[in-house]
Order: sequence, then C-alpha cells, then structure tokens
Amino acid sequence: MSIKKLEWEEKYSVGVKELDDQHKFMFATINELLELVNNNTAKEYLGGVIDALIKYKIFHFQTEEKYFQEFNYSGAQDHIARHQEFNNKLALISARYPEHTVEFAFELLDFLEDWLVNHLLVVDQEYKECFAAHGLK
Ligand SMILES: [Fe+2]
Ligand SMILES: [Fe+2]
Repeated sequence: MSIKKLEWEEKYSVGVKELDDQHKFMFATINELLELVNNNTAKEYLGGVIDALIKYKIFHFQTEEKYFQEFNYSGAQDHIARHQEFNNKLALISARYPEHTVEFAFELLDFLEDWLVNHLLVVDQEYKECFAAHGLK
C-alpha cells in the first residue's frame, strides 16, 4: 500500500489562522503516524499517536461547529452531518481492530488522508466566505 506524506498547500487554507493551524497539526500527526508505520520500529507508539489524532479531530470539529453557531452559518447542518459521517466511519474501522495493529494504522491512514484532503478542499472551503464576513482571520 502506498500512502504519501501530506504536504500543506496554500489551497487548503480557509483563511483563518486558528483553523489552518489545526488542519496543519492534523497533517503533521498523520505524517508522524505514517513514519511510525513505515519505519516499522515503533509499534509501541502507535496507539498513543492514533488516540491523540482521534481526540484532536473531535476538538477540531468542536471548534468549527462553535463558529457555525456563533455566525449562524447556513451550511451548518450539512457540515455537521459530514463530521458525524466521519465519526461513524472511524468507529466502524476502529471496531474491526480492537487493538491498534499496524494493519489498523494503514487502513486508518488511507481513510484519514483521503477524507482530510477532500473535506478541506471542498467542505471546509464552503464556510470561508461566511467566516471572513464575520471578521475571523
Ligand atoms: Fe469541517
Ligand atoms: Fe476542518
């Protein structure tokens, strides 16, 4: 399986430093996980990184959803449904691997990269205008 390192690009920006930083942090954590898996030397760290990533994701969704509410964002319902969909898929993958195995990490990475990049490039971009109109940057 070939999973590439994620590189941050300006096209991912949503124009808000706090949120860009959170997205960048997720890229970095995914890359860290990728490195652990590729090196195959640090299995003992796998569980910790995966748990941290999942916790951070929850925190990130809460940050976005807090602004949706604050700005009365019209796309909130759809966007929250996408976040929920992500959580459900993640739970399904996790359930197949009660232990944090390397196989789990691979499947997780594949899913996360695909999801994160698509979500950032399409769904997150949709709130850009609304957040900017409320002076968030
Ligand atoms: Fe989002
Ligand atoms: Fe996001």
